[in-house]
Amino acid sequence: MKEAAGIIAAAKPGFKPNVGIILGSGLGPMAQDVTDATVLDYRGLPGFPQPSVEGHAGLLSLGKIGETAVAVLQGRGHFYEHGRADAMKVPVRALHAIGCETLILTNAGGSLDPAMGPGSVMMITDHINLVQSSPLFDEAGNSRFVDMVGAYDAGLQQHARDAAQATGVMLHEGIYVWFSGPQFETAAEIRFARMVGGTAIGMSTVPEVILARQAGMKVAGFSIITNFGAGMSDTPLSHEQTMSVAATAAVELRRLLNHMIAGLGA
Ligand code: HPA
Repeated sequence: MKEAAGIIAAAKPGFKPNVGIILGSGLGPMAQDVTDATVLDYRGLPGFPQPSVEGHAGLLSLGKIGETAVAVLQGRGHFYEHGRADAMKVPVRALHAIGCETLILTNAGGSLDPAMGPGSVMMITDHINLVQSSPLFDEAGNSRFVDMVGAYDAGLQQHARDAAQATGVMLHEGIYVWFSGPQFETAAEIRFARMVGGTAIGMSTVPEVILARQAGMKVAGFSIITNFGAGMSDTPLSHEQTMSVAATAAVELRRLLNHMIAGLGA
C-alpha cells in the first residue's frame, strides 16, 4: 500500500486531497468534472485492481471539484471477479494515506422498492452484508473489529440532502444489500432481501465501506438504480441494460455530487 501511496503523492507534489471518490458503473464521466487533473493509470499502481468490467476505466484523477481537493477512482475491483472481498484494500488505504478523510462511494444497483424505479438515485443510509465476507479476513490484531454502527456518516447524509434540494435532484434513501454476483439474483432472493428490510441490491461497495471505517474515514454511498430486482418487473436483467440506464441516472447523481463535494472543501 505504501508503494502505491508514494507513487500517487509523488505524481502531484504538494497536493493533498481531502475527499476520495470511487465511481461505479456509469459514473465514470464524472471524472471529467475534476479540474487541473493529474491522471494515473491503475496499471502503474501496485496493488490496485486491474478492472475487467466494461464501464470501469482503471484511472485515478487528482485535482479539484470546486475548491475541494479530490482523488477520484474510476473503476473498482469486485468480489465476483475472484471471490475475495479485499480487492479494494490497497486503493482505499492509499486514499487514506495521501490525506482523504472522506470517502464517497457510488455504484449501480437494483431497486427493491416499487416506488423507486430505474433512473432513480438512492443515498445509502446503511447496508446488509449478505455475502458475509470481509476485506479484513486475513488481518490480525484488534483493529479488525470495526464498529459498523453509523457507518454512513450522518453529517455527509445531511450535506447530500441539502445538495439534492439545491440541485433539484430527487434523492431516495435506503438500505443497500450486498449480493456477490456476478449472476443476478433469483426472484426468491429478491423477495428475501425485501423482507429483511433492503431498499436496493448490488454487487459492490460494502467491502470498501468496511475498509474506510477501519481507517476512520467518513463514508457516504450512493446507488444509481438501473432496474427493479429480479422478478419485480418483466424487463430481463443484463449488464448492457445496467450500463444504458446508469448513463442516464448518472447525470442526476453527478450534478448532486458536484454540488455536495464543492461544499465539503470550504
Ligand atoms: N442486482 C445486483 N446488482 C445490480 C443490479 C441488480 O439487480 N442492478 C445493477 N447492479
